[in-house]
Amino acid sequence: MTHPAIRTFGDLDALSRAAAEELATIARDAIAARGVCHVALSGGSTPKRLFQLLSSQGPGALPWEHVQLWWGDERTVPPDHADSNYRMTREALIEPLQLDPARIHRIAGELPDHAATAADYARKLTAALGPRLAFDLVYLGMGPDGHTASLFPGTPALAETRATVVANQLSAANLPGACVRITLTAPAINAARKVRFLVAGADKAAPLFEVLDGARDPQRYPSQLIAPTSGDLAWFLDTAAAARLGAPT
Ligand code: 6PG
Repeated sequence: MTHPAIRTFGDLDALSRAAAEELATIARDAIAARGVCHVALSGGSTPKRLFQLLSSQGPGALPWEHVQLWWGDERTVPPDHADSNYRMTREALIEPLQLDPARIHRIAGELPDHAATAADYARKLTAALGPRLAFDLVYLGMGPDGHTASLFPGTPALAETRATVVANQLSAANLPGACVRITLTAPAINAARKVRFLVAGADKAAPLFEVLDGARDPQRYPSQLIAPTSGDLAWFLDTAAAARLGAPT
C-alpha cells in the first residue's frame, strides 16, 4: 500500500500542537470558500490533548462562530457517561470555549432505537452538508486492533457501501461494555475534503505497521478502508506509534 502523507512528532503534545495549527488553516480556508467549516471529531483519548490545546488558545484563535462540530462515532451511553465521546469533548473543548450549542451536533447514543438514531444523524448531516456529505475535516483515531471510528474488525458496518451512519453491532468484535456503537461509515468518511488520523503510543506501532505496510485486509484492519475519494489523507503520529514504519515518502 503506498504511504499517504505521514507527519511524525516527538510526542503527543507536539502532534497536537501541529494538528491545532493545521486546523486553524483548514477552518479559515473552508470559511473563506463556503462560509462554514464542518468538522467530525473522533473519540477515545488521543484527541483530548488537541482539544485542551485549542481551549488554552482561547475563542479568538479560530473562527469558531463558523465551525460546526460533529462526531465520527459515539457510544450508546448517555451524554454524561464516562465513556461518552461527547462528554470528553464537552469538558475539554466545548465548555472551556463556551461554544454555541447550536453548532454542536452530538449523536444521541442514549436513545434506545440505535438504528433510528443513526438514520436521524444521517438526515441531519445531509441537511447540513448536502447529499455528497463533504466534511471539511474528519479526525480519526486508530485502536490497537486497527479499528477507526467504530468500524471494528469483523463487524457488519465494514461492508456498508450506501448508508452514511449506522448502528454497528460490536458483539462480533468481542468488545466489553456497550455492544452497539453509532458510527460514520467508510464511504461517509471517504467523502471528506480532509481526513486526519491522530495516532500516538507504542501500543499502536504494530497495528499501524499492518495498516500501512502490511497486506490489505480491511476486515481485519478497518483503518485500511479510509482512502478519501477526492480529499487528502494524512497521519499525524508520534515517534512511538511510527516506530515500525518504513521511511515516510
Ligand atoms: C472511540 C473512537 C475510536 C478511537 C480509537 C483510538 O469512540 O473510541 O472513535 O475509534 O479513536 O479507539 O482510541 P485512543 O485515542 O483512546 O487510543
